[in-house]
Amino acid sequence: MVDDFRSFEKQLAASYRDVASQYRHDDEIEVATSNHSRICGNLERVSSSFERPIHVLDVGCGTGRYFHCLKNVELLVGVDISAEMLRAAEQPVKGDKISAKTIRLLQRNVYEHTFPSEMFDFIYCFGVFGHAAKLTSELCRKFHLWLSHDGRLYFDAIESSDDPPLIAARRKIRQALHPLLPQRVRQKLDERAAHLPVFTMTHEELGSVMCEGGFSDFSISMNDCRSPLWRGAHLECIATKSRRGHRPHAVRP
Ligand SMILES: C[S@@+](CC[C@H](N)C(=O)[O-])C[C@H]1O[C@@H](n2cnc3c(N)ncnc32)[C@H](O)[C@@H]1O
Repeated sequence: MVDDFRSFEKQLAASYRDVASQYRHDDEIEVATSNHSRICGNLERVSSSFERPIHVLDVGCGTGRYFHCLKNVELLVGVDISAEMLRAAEQPVKGDKISAKTIRLLQRNVYEHTFPSEMFDFIYCFGVFGHAAKLTSELCRKFHLWLSHDGRLYFDAIESSDDPPLIAARRKIRQALHPLLPQRVRQKLDERAAHLPVFTMTHEELGSVMCEGGFSDFSISMNDCRSPLWRGAHLECIATKSRRGHRPHAVRP
């Protein structure tokens, strides 16, 4: 499975190269949304909950949309496959609010890269799992390994609805709109669809992957995002790498 993600590397990086400046521009719109405030509030809460300055990993950090939300950070590492997105992350949104002492940006494919065990107190990942990237049990095990004994993990993934009529209706709408789109947009969408798959997960699949990855203390919620830039259902998962052995996990719909 990991080999599949490796094979997408070039196309994935190319797809973000074309949109990096637009994405950075969109950060200014997204930070004003309730969706951003909610995620940002959670990032702030988790990062401030440690009684020590912490090391944080932002997986697929893109343009650094969430850097300003973090508190109490000694080292923030942002990993991304796209050089252009990382270049934009050098001037992230709300730069004057960023309090991390040191920020390191690394151009890496997260499926291939490794960090020392227990290097991070907090790992988060937003907007990554879906477009040619999926949370696998292998990747989950890496996150588990990289986290400190009381470390926290927070991420989202595109939810796959179990409701086939809804999926069919969405597909019909997309097909009907396709010929009406400007040719350039149509071409881009076709190129993406031809080369880069979209991975979705059910609530149950996500729970299983987390358990296989070594996490026993986590909760999963469903959020229907209505930002001007993105509409759709996301699963959100927040986990603690507990020292206390296996505990039953809490899963709420
Ligand atoms: C939709 S953007 C989200 C960026 C940022 N997390 C945010 O929420 O604004 C997805 C980012 O994930 C990065 N990405 C996707 N797959 C990756 C991989 N395998 N390794 C590293 N970065 C990856 C892309 O380059 C892109 O910058």
